[in-house]
Amino acid sequence: MRTLADLGDVDGKRVLVRVDFNVPLDDGRVTDDTRIRAAVPTIEELRRRGARLVLVSHLGRPKEREPELSLRPAAAHLAELTEAKVTLAPAVVGEDVRALADRLGRGEMLVLENVRYEPGETKNDPALAAALAELADAYVDDAFGAAHRAHASTVGVAELIEQRAAGLLLEREVMTLSKLLEDPEQPLVAVLGGAKVSDKIAVIERFLALADTILIGGAMCFPFFAAQGHGVGSSLCEADDVSLAERALQAAAGARARLELPRDLVIADRLAADARAQPLDGIEVPEGMMGLDIGPRTSERYAQAIGDAATVFWNGPMGAFELEPFAAGTRAVAEAVASAPGTTVVGGGDSAAAVQGLGLADRVTHLSTGGGAALELIEGKALPGVEALK
Ligand code: 3PG
Repeated sequence: MRTLADLGDVDGKRVLVRVDFNVPLDDGRVTDDTRIRAAVPTIEELRRRGARLVLVSHLGRPKEREPELSLRPAAAHLAELTEAKVTLAPAVVGEDVRALADRLGRGEMLVLENVRYEPGETKNDPALAAALAELADAYVDDAFGAAHRAHASTVGVAELIEQRAAGLLLEREVMTLSKLLEDPEQPLVAVLGGAKVSDKIAVIERFLALADTILIGGAMCFPFFAAQGHGVGSSLCEADDVSLAERALQAAAGARARLELPRDLVIADRLAADARAQPLDGIEVPEGMMGLDIGPRTSERYAQAIGDAATVFWNGPMGAFELEPFAAGTRAVAEAVASAPGTTVVGGGDSAAAVQGLGLADRVTHLSTGGGAALELIEGKALPGVEALK
């Protein structure tokens, strides 16, 4: 993978920078700016080198030009963070956008509109890739969160611009996650949560061969319990997930890693903020009740394993943490990861949001900005956005 160090001279050149500004918004304001902040070092480095920057990102999954998915709030936020003038283009490509890109001075920034306003983006349409390439002399990809997508702005355009490289964020993400797979300090503990076994099965299988311990949490534990013959009440538990859990349990029998499941739970009759959460000392969920968090004994055991590890990887919440009665398990794991003396890597998505929300982000070694991309890398898949930079 080529990096900024290999990019060569960009003084006075227009550099198209693919960033991942796919950030949560509330009423036109950015509510979590982690991804925008994470792109700033690359942006500043290129500005320092005299580049004229054209930034391109997606936001959400618009079906048409949905105004609430405009990049305007992200562009305004970038202007605040960099204390520099940032212009928002009226569209993704076209005559007007080209004129704006041509007029950029050294160190100035133009943010293109949401690249998914163009239907060709997700199809990796060659015409859109060519129109994007016309805006720039060089290409830098710093959008780790979108590196698993073979789209026009991540792959098509990269192939058309010879002077190309990974940005600092993309480089750091790939290096950190690759080291975790290739040369982790042992013992390695993987904490895997979330709703569905099918989303995580490939990651579980990878860690069975690589880790010392896998700690399972989230609704994903119920298919495991069902596969072991326990009652799961009305907990989330789909039949295809039960077969996958059976497969993982069989693989675990002869594997390097020990796979651990919760020992106690928090249950309620429904998933609601005002539901009465009850502790369950055990894992046999009664009929009419559902498991919504790991219990305190499990939290304590998982925190201890995390504290004893030399390397920790965490992806996925331990329960329905967005509702306060079911947030304790995820909070306990986030705090244990933040206090752990070893190297700690948090995969993106909900677990990264939990760490961020608890103000613990600066206490983990690496907080990934990619959810799906981080998981695909761990699964051992090649990321198209990274391959295109070779
Ligand atoms: C993410 O939020 O995981 C990335 O920005 C990718 O978004 P996507 O899943 O809509 O491609």
